[in-house]
Parts: sequence; C-alpha cells; structure tokens
Amino acid sequence: MMEDIKKYQKAEKEKKLREKNQPIPWYYDGLEKLCDRIHPTSQLLKLTDIKDLSYDTKLYRFISANPDKPLAPFRAGSYIGLTVNINSVRTSRPYSLVSSPNQLAYYELGIRKKEGGFVSPFLYHNAQIGDIFVSTEPLGNLYYNPLFHGKNLVFIAGGCGITPFISMLRDITERAVPIKIILLYGCVTEKDILFNEELREILSRRSNITITHILSEPAADWKGECGFITKDKIITQIGSFKDKYFYVVGNRPMYKFIENELNEMGVPRHKIYYEAFGVPEDITQVMGWPSNIDSSKKVKVTVSFRGTKEIENQEFEVYCVEPLLNSIEGFKNSQITIDNGCRSGECALCRTKLLKGNVFVPPEVTVREVDNDFGFIHPCVSYPITDVHLDLTYT
Ligand code: FES
Repeated sequence: MMEDIKKYQKAEKEKKLREKNQPIPWYYDGLEKLCDRIHPTSQLLKLTDIKDLSYDTKLYRFISANPDKPLAPFRAGSYIGLTVNINSVRTSRPYSLVSSPNQLAYYELGIRKKEGGFVSPFLYHNAQIGDIFVSTEPLGNLYYNPLFHGKNLVFIAGGCGITPFISMLRDITERAVPIKIILLYGCVTEKDILFNEELREILSRRSNITITHILSEPAADWKGECGFITKDKIITQIGSFKDKYFYVVGNRPMYKFIENELNEMGVPRHKIYYEAFGVPEDITQVMGWPSNIDSSKKVKVTVSFRGTKEIENQEFEVYCVEPLLNSIEGFKNSQITIDNGCRSGECALCRTKLLKGNVFVPPEVTVREVDNDFGFIHPCVSYPITDVHLDLTYT
C-alpha cells in the first residue's frame, strides 16, 4: 500500500514537471474557465431577500455579488458552506440549498435559528439585505443517482432537514422525472412544518409523490399522524422496502433513531443515505471518548502557517472537548484560516497535517486510510486530547 502511494506521488511529480515544460495547449484557457465555473474555490454572494418560513426559520436568497461570475451549478440536495464574521470570529456553517438547480439566478437557503447556536441566531437577527458573504462551491453527496437509487425513493426529513428535499422535489417535478417518492416529514408541532403550502400543492398535482406529516407534540385538533417516525409508521407508509432507496436528513438524535428503526426493518445500509451536519452536543458521551480525560482539561495547540513573509507558529490554549476547527476559529483576529465545508468530516476540505499529539475522532467519522497513514486529520471533527502541533504549510 505504502509502496503504491509512493509510486503514485512520484508519478504525479513527474507529470507536473512534464506539464511545466510543455507548451500550453490551445484549449487550456477554456478548460480553466470551465473548471472555475463549475468548481470555484469560493463564491461571493449578495443577500437580496429574506422571508419568514416559520416562527424560527427564515429563507435567505442570494445572488452572485460578482457580475462576471455566475453562481456555480449544483445538484439538488447539495449544500454550501456560508462564512460569517461575528465579532471578529470568522467561521462558517453548511446549509442545504433549497432552490431548484434548474435556475442559477439565485441560491436560497432555509436556516432555522438554533437555540444556543452561534451562526444561525446571528443570521436570524442581524443579516440584512445587501450583505455580502463568502461561500464554498456547492458540495455534498446527497443527490439522486438514477443508476444506484432506482425509481422508488423514500425521503425521511426531520424539521429543517426538509430543505434539501424541497430542492430535490422541485427538480424532479420540474423535469418530470418518472420516479415515485414517499416523503415522511417529522416535526414537533404544526407550526414547525416548513414549505407546507408548497408541499400541499405538490401533493395535489403529482400522483407519483406522497407526503405524510408526523408530529411529536401535536395540538388536540391535529388529524394526521402523531409520535415519531417509527419502524411501524415507515412500514405503514411505504409497504415493502425491497425496491426502495432511503435518504434521511435531520439532526443527530433523529439520525440515530431512524438508523435504529431502519436497521430493525432489515433495510441494508447501502440502501440508505444519511445526512446529519454537525458534531455531537457532548463529545464526552460518545463511545470511545477516553474516560480519564476531564471535560475541563485544556491543551496547547501549535499551528504552523504561512505568514505574510515566512512560516510562522501560533500557539493557543483550547478545551479538549471542542473540535479543533472551532477552537482555532474562536481566536479573534487570528491570521489562521482553515478551509471547510461540511464540518462533519465528509468533504475533506479542512484536511490538515498533524505533526504531533493525539486527537479523538467520533467513531462514525470515516477518515480515508491514506490520511491516517500519512498523519492527516479533519480538525472539524477532531478533539485534541493531548498537546498537538498542526502544520498548515503542508501542500
Ligand atoms: S469541513 Fe468537511 S471534513 Fe472538515
């Protein structure tokens, strides 16, 4: 394995050298432009509209703030990492695109104000029309793949987890894709249901789409389903799971709950796609967390990075129960920036070399074998349990 990697690295180096010495082909400019159009390193977005979706959720519409750069195309189900600057702390969060991918005049994000959160309450109370934001290109693995997902889909959404499904439903209905969709949408109360009118309209116009709302704390006059999205409720709505592909989007506790229900039904893991952004509320409760480490423990983090002229080192003292990325971003006016998108260990944008020390990574996060072998970590889901040294100069 190591031999193969070394051979690959050598071949890559030789290829780069060859390319450097070769004349630039005539089509190079066009290809560069196309790549940048599809995969821009970042995008500048201008907020043009804000609407209430519910008592705690708003719809934010953005256009490209750069007239020469249209918004990057995306597949329904994608998300973008939206960067904000809050009191000199620069951080970002992943938010699913709600808008249809069949138009690129604007992106829309539906963002719920998370109690005790940092970014979403800030946006809810402070975002103003005309504000400019930086975002990533559209990212993510949640999208309809006809080859592997077949023609019978089950969407399971919890609360604000409906947002990528709205984009997918818009896409599928606009293009009249001949597939069947069963949407199970769980909320706490009726006023938590987002896009209710649009869902009703889709339901009335499309015979290939069924929608069931399930409320965990319904009012006395609610006539629909009550409780959680349990195995029994899923079976009642979908019948056999055999020919179906499942997408699950919600918060982490819901993800765990649904995982268990689908497991009990016998749905094979490869027939389910889960999307749950974020890190555990309390890392010390996660399986495998070293029990001898006190949650108040602080460790020293040294970061080597390219300063204005030369390589510099910066040292921080951080809590071991905070993900490294959050801790580093939390230092006001820090010169250090780490690219990121999903903040869940999936996109690998934050991939960073760990020179020294140990980190704890939740067991459900899968780090590529090659990253482990060469000492790379994802700071968005890595908790420093000893003093650590990170190298951001490594390319
Ligand atoms: S931000 Fe995506 S893996 Fe860290």
